[in-house]
Amino acid sequence: MTTPASPTPAASDIDLSQQDFWALPLGERHAAFAELRKLNAPPYFADPQTPLTIEGQGYYALVNHADVLEASRHPDTFSSARGATSVVDLPSEFNEYFGSMINMDDPRHARLRRIVSRAFTPRMIKNFENDAQRAAAAIVDDLLATGPGDFVSQVSARLPLKIICDMMGIGDEHYEMVLRNTNTILAGGDPEFHSEDMETAIGQILTAGADLAGLVTSLAAEREGNRGDDLISALATANVDGELLTSAELASFFILLVVAGNETTRTALSHALVQLTDHPDQRDLLVTDFEGRITGAVEEIVRFVSPVMYMRRSLTKDAVVNGHQYRAGDKCLLFYWSANRDESVFGPGTDRFDITRSPNPHVGFGGAGPHFCLGAHLARREITVMLRELLHRVPDIRAAGEPDRLLSSFINGIKHLPCDFG
Ligand code: HEM
Repeated sequence: MTTPASPTPAASDIDLSQQDFWALPLGERHAAFAELRKLNAPPYFADPQTPLTIEGQGYYALVNHADVLEASRHPDTFSSARGATSVVDLPSEFNEYFGSMINMDDPRHARLRRIVSRAFTPRMIKNFENDAQRAAAAIVDDLLATGPGDFVSQVSARLPLKIICDMMGIGDEHYEMVLRNTNTILAGGDPEFHSEDMETAIGQILTAGADLAGLVTSLAAEREGNRGDDLISALATANVDGELLTSAELASFFILLVVAGNETTRTALSHALVQLTDHPDQRDLLVTDFEGRITGAVEEIVRFVSPVMYMRRSLTKDAVVNGHQYRAGDKCLLFYWSANRDESVFGPGTDRFDITRSPNPHVGFGGAGPHFCLGAHLARREITVMLRELLHRVPDIRAAGEPDRLLSSFINGIKHLPCDFG
């Protein structure tokens, strides 16, 4: 399952805005980013060409660890308000469903984040541990009963979906529609989930947003006068700046949480099986001392995989950062997955999957800053309980073929992954 070696293009031949680049095997993409990291200044790319594009001016790719950290730490200069999850500025109709706190700066971002952050503290997540444990056990029961098939649908998609839906108080009758719509929203340019006609694809994404918004609106209405301790009740009654959230704000918040909570952890778990299959020595290390090594293993999975490959920032003013001059209005993509392979931080073995790596200052959950992943503790717990359950009860589970990868520059996703055991 290792990627065949092929010649690495010169930095000047690399174009991160071409969809074809993101269809290359992972090894080739990593080699290309290694070339970009050798440059003296952040490389600049024209915006991808799409009918969706509000004519933009291109972007800098921040590929080094130090640049990603600096941009994350200075949100007053590197703003999220023009959008954090899309290279291009999106048309205003997207704000109705996708204008959430990830696309805001403080102080409004901080006020919104406070509403949900109490649900995501390590102590609260610890309370979820038993639920997660039970859910992981049920997933493995089903896997053993059904037999090997597609690891993504049988295992890695199921746990994050159940956990985030439980937190929201969403019943299992809605799981299929939540999963389908979050897949559509984060499909990048993958034709399995979108039409290849951009106008149609935009319609599909907006419909997915509208369907999820409809779900949260009806659930919030059901809980009117009968509030539970779930997140939808908390959001529906949250008071921000002396006002309740509007229905569009409630919808965007909900969509952010379900999308971010689903696709990322699923991606980490799917890649984890690939890596533990490709690296039997690392698997042995983990199995022989699971409790002693799992914390480091989870961090290494997140570093090595980098489920979220970039976030965007826009410059609010002229600034010189790490010796490079930026101008007000410039766009930057913070490439976490390149920073996570930066040789100056992770040494010559940066491309090695090493669950004992220490220190491991990866930026897979973002650099330190106000937008640092809200779900990081939760994701770590989910990956831990799922791997514990799998490796104890299905010790010979392995990836049994090439992963079917998502065509996306944003999520390092795996759509399908054949697995085998027994
Ligand atoms: C392995 C799994 C995950 C990875 C790799 C990941 C990665 C990230 C990254 C890179 C960011 C942006 C950080 C920044 O801009 O500085 C982010 C933000 C966020 N993540 Fe995660 N995430 C994961 C799991 C989760 C889960 C389970 C949730 C649960 C709901 C979640 C919720 C969020 C939210 C709400 C934000 C936006 C925070 C803000 O703007 O203040 N994530 N995540």
